[in-house]
Amino acid sequence: MARVLAFANQKGGVAKTTSTLSIAVALAERGRRVLAVDLDPQGALTYSIGIDPDSVAETVNDVLIRRLPIEKVVIQREVDVVPSNIDLAGAEAVLLAKTGREYALQRALRDVQDDYDYVVIDCPPSLGILTINGLTAARQVVIPLQCEALSHRGVGQLLETLNDIRHFTNPDLKVIGVLPTLFDGRSKHARDVLGDVGQRYDVEVLEPPIRKTIKFAEATQAGKSILSYAASHPAAEAYREHARRIDEAEGV
Ligand SMILES: Nc1ncnc2c1ncn2[C@@H]1O[C@H](COP(=O)(O)OP(=O)(O)OP(=O)(O)O)[C@@H](O)[C@H]1O
Ligand SMILES: [Mg+2]
Repeated sequence: MARVLAFANQKGGVAKTTSTLSIAVALAERGRRVLAVDLDPQGALTYSIGIDPDSVAETVNDVLIRRLPIEKVVIQREVDVVPSNIDLAGAEAVLLAKTGREYALQRALRDVQDDYDYVVIDCPPSLGILTINGLTAARQVVIPLQCEALSHRGVGQLLETLNDIRHFTNPDLKVIGVLPTLFDGRSKHARDVLGDVGQRYDVEVLEPPIRKTIKFAEATQAGKSILSYAASHPAAEAYREHARRIDEAEGV
């Protein structure tokens, strides 16, 4: 049975997509079979791995709305990808009118449970029905967080949403922890923010932080993960370390 990991934070631009893709590829490097699901109408994960979102005819939208079998939309890159594009923007309204709307992705993933060791889900920057689908389908969630002032302010709301999800749709959902991203190691401030978040919300802050580097923008431009674009860069190594810890974690 695949282990399903969601990457979620309603705050935009905190490296959800980057972290989803990097950890997906790092798990694949470890020999795991990985499916990455792009659950964002912006299609950033799709684009980042070298697929033109606008050229994809069938996407996660067809899976969620038309119940197209998920394997029909999978595209093979460094990992297998369920692509997304702007078509998914309409899914929110359509899903809201449906019974079982929270479970559309969970149901779709059942077909491929045995084909993968991991399914990683890149959630959009909102707490709407798409993110709820991601969190309902997941066994564990990673919260990417930019280390800057006030970045903690959305964390409380996200943790409340996770409590709601446990209550209504997914009692066993676990938080792996907060993944510090866009980290400026020179600033004491960034360290302080992390300490504050860990204490305030009683949530694990995962080590090591992912440092800020232009390599990520370059990798996206090249349509590659950081792991293949700059294989020995410290940021690639940091994501490998997170993947190793996730992969070696017991009891899940
Ligand atoms: N460690 C890093 N150093 C520098 N730039 C980074 C780093 N991680 C991500 N980025 C860049 O920051 C931007 C936002 O990252 P990303 O798209 O992964 O965030 P996101 O949380 O998925 O955004 P959204 O909320 O829009 O979905 C991207 O341009 C990405 O290339
Ligand atoms: Mg994103």
